[in-house]
Amino acid sequence: MNAAFRFDDWETPAQDSPATDTTVDAGNPPKTAVDRNMPATPSLAPINAADKRIVNGKADINQLAPFKYPWAWEFFLKANRNHWTPLEISMAQDVHDYHHKLSLAERHVFENVLAYLTTSDILAMRNIGLAVMEKMSAPELQIYQARQVYEEALHTWTYQHCIESIGLDQQEIYNRYRVVPEIHGKIALANRRLERVMRADFDLTDRANLHEFALSYFFFAVIFEGCWFYNGFTPIFALQRRGLMKGAAEQLQYIMRDEVLHCAFGIRVVRELLKEENLTIDPQALRQLWDEAEAAEHAYAGYILRDPILGYNADLHVQQFRFIANRRARQVGVDEPFPGAENVLPWLDEQANLRKEKNFFETRVTEYQTGGALAWD
Ligand SMILES: [Fe+2]
Ligand SMILES: [Fe+2]
Repeated sequence: MNAAFRFDDWETPAQDSPATDTTVDAGNPPKTAVDRNMPATPSLAPINAADKRIVNGKADINQLAPFKYPWAWEFFLKANRNHWTPLEISMAQDVHDYHHKLSLAERHVFENVLAYLTTSDILAMRNIGLAVMEKMSAPELQIYQARQVYEEALHTWTYQHCIESIGLDQQEIYNRYRVVPEIHGKIALANRRLERVMRADFDLTDRANLHEFALSYFFFAVIFEGCWFYNGFTPIFALQRRGLMKGAAEQLQYIMRDEVLHCAFGIRVVRELLKEENLTIDPQALRQLWDEAEAAEHAYAGYILRDPILGYNADLHVQQFRFIANRRARQVGVDEPFPGAENVLPWLDEQANLRKEKNFFETRVTEYQTGGALAWD
């Protein structure tokens, strides 16, 4: 018999851990283990929503309502309307496209975008799950972030499914960020931000640490997810617009819907955090953040698009990054980092709004979303 995994193994009760204490007190019913750990008469006062805070809150984090941040709960409900797995989207045509239709330059773009994304989504998962969630002190915030952690893992599965379906060399693709400096540059920037706030001794009652945390959250929500991811799918959407790699592109459209929510939620958290803590992000630190992000994106675009492909090139990629960055800055309420940047890819927003794409791409994406329509941007 092989060692195949059996779901019903999960159901086997442990033999040495009785669930209840069967000791009978004279005249009283048996007490459960849980009962023994609770006061005989609960004496805790109800939670006051006003006591909740984004960080450093004192209210009991195990009690969901009353909400102080009802919008966070709405994000959770909204996120659950975009539910899919990568197995539901056919990759059959992509296998043919990759091996028989893509030019060398197009394959280079496709592989390197995947190589960057695979690593990025693991970083995004670690950031939210390990560095951010534990600092949140209101459960409605943590619950959306728990969903986000799952979604980042789902995105990683999606890239892995694309890599497997097309038959790319997994080890080579996953290792690429370690050997291609232009991909490594973006990952290293994110890793540095993450490491600064993931220390065990990171105390958010310290104002300098609080500022560092706000800056890191800003980086991940606004730049990493809101700009790099949002704009990061465009090279593959450019292929999709020419009828190529439509399965992979459709997978990325689902991911993009998640990422738009992650970015919008993160921006809301940053705004509330700054207001609650009476904190302003240092303009010089912010300028440095934008400049580093732009330089890294510039180098990355130069590598993945060292040879332009039909309808897309490195210059368009960088210009669109600047345009999206300005939009995100307005949403947070800070100065635009790249005044005058133009929307050189007006089709990108349409691509994010799947409802408009059904006829053009002849996919079933628009019908898959459950519940009401989502407002994306
Ligand atoms: Fe993601
Ligand atoms: Fe994300």
